[in-house]
Amino acid sequence: MSPTLQRMLAHAAQVLREAGVDSPEVEARWLAEEALRLSHAEVLAQRDEVVPGPLSAQFQSLVQRRAAREPLAYVLGHADFCGRRFLCDRRALAPRPETELLVEAAGATCRDIEPGAVVVDVGLGSGVIALTLALEHPHLAVWGTEISPAALQLARANADFQRVADRVRLEEGSLLQPLREAGLADEVAVVVSNPPYVRSGDLKTLQPEVRKWEPRLALDGGPEGLDLYRALLAECAGLRGLQTIFLEVGYDTAEAVVALAHETWPTGETQVRPDLAGISRVVTICPQPVARREAEAHVAVEAS
Ligand SMILES: C[S@@+](CC[C@H](N)C(=O)[O-])C[C@H]1O[C@@H](n2cnc3c(N)ncnc32)[C@H](O)[C@@H]1O
Repeated sequence: MSPTLQRMLAHAAQVLREAGVDSPEVEARWLAEEALRLSHAEVLAQRDEVVPGPLSAQFQSLVQRRAAREPLAYVLGHADFCGRRFLCDRRALAPRPETELLVEAAGATCRDIEPGAVVVDVGLGSGVIALTLALEHPHLAVWGTEISPAALQLARANADFQRVADRVRLEEGSLLQPLREAGLADEVAVVVSNPPYVRSGDLKTLQPEVRKWEPRLALDGGPEGLDLYRALLAECAGLRGLQTIFLEVGYDTAEAVVALAHETWPTGETQVRPDLAGISRVVTICPQPVARREAEAHVAVEAS
């Protein structure tokens, strides 16, 4: 006879615990909600009911995947980010809660910027940053670039899923190359990026969910974890319309990224924001502080 939901949950939690999953009971319930298409309240209310064979098999298959330490978001096929649901699978990094801070940090600048301003998310992954910005700031021209064709495919699927595909340009290419090719590099006003920032030597120390399952291209930031910051800031250095850059950084790389910014723009301004755990997480760079930019624009108008 098929087991009750309660017994299935207890067995799943045991399997997940033995596999080293951190919160086995909670995750067993989330997997049950997904497999059985039930809400939290329905799982509680139906725990003494017998689960039909096919649904039970579906649940077991999700539990086995999670027990192999596949990230929960891949097993569920989705993740929540800034209050919205996004599709999620092996093609791209699973979105992290700390990346919401990057979107929040960029939010005030994006809100105040002139309509039609070009904002670029470099390294789209699943597209959560670019698509959230496009959804929250419909007056912007949001672009996203991505070097991995597989990740780009997922970002485009998410653009369809969020019904913003007609309002964003998601393109394959390294850093700002797609914008240069479109002749738009000097129109870029804001750059936002969560680049790969794990030191190559640290990759083997990451937890199995990350090390075994997430794309290396999304993680490996080179020997010091700074390769992509160096390359991106070098590209940004020549952009005439650039106002602000927002970068997510690794737990101990904020200082090095700030130093790179000051090497690139000696009179530029930087700001570092901590995440909820108190870790320096977002670096904001204003290559040309606003007062100076406005003064120079004024001089340019007077001279013309
Ligand atoms: C840390 S993941 C971030 C993904 C997503 N933005 C997020 O926050 O969840 C970095 C992404 O940058 C992409 N990437 C790596 N090198 C790149 C490059 N040179 N140009 C554009 N994208 C790149 C990776 O493929 C990966 O999808």
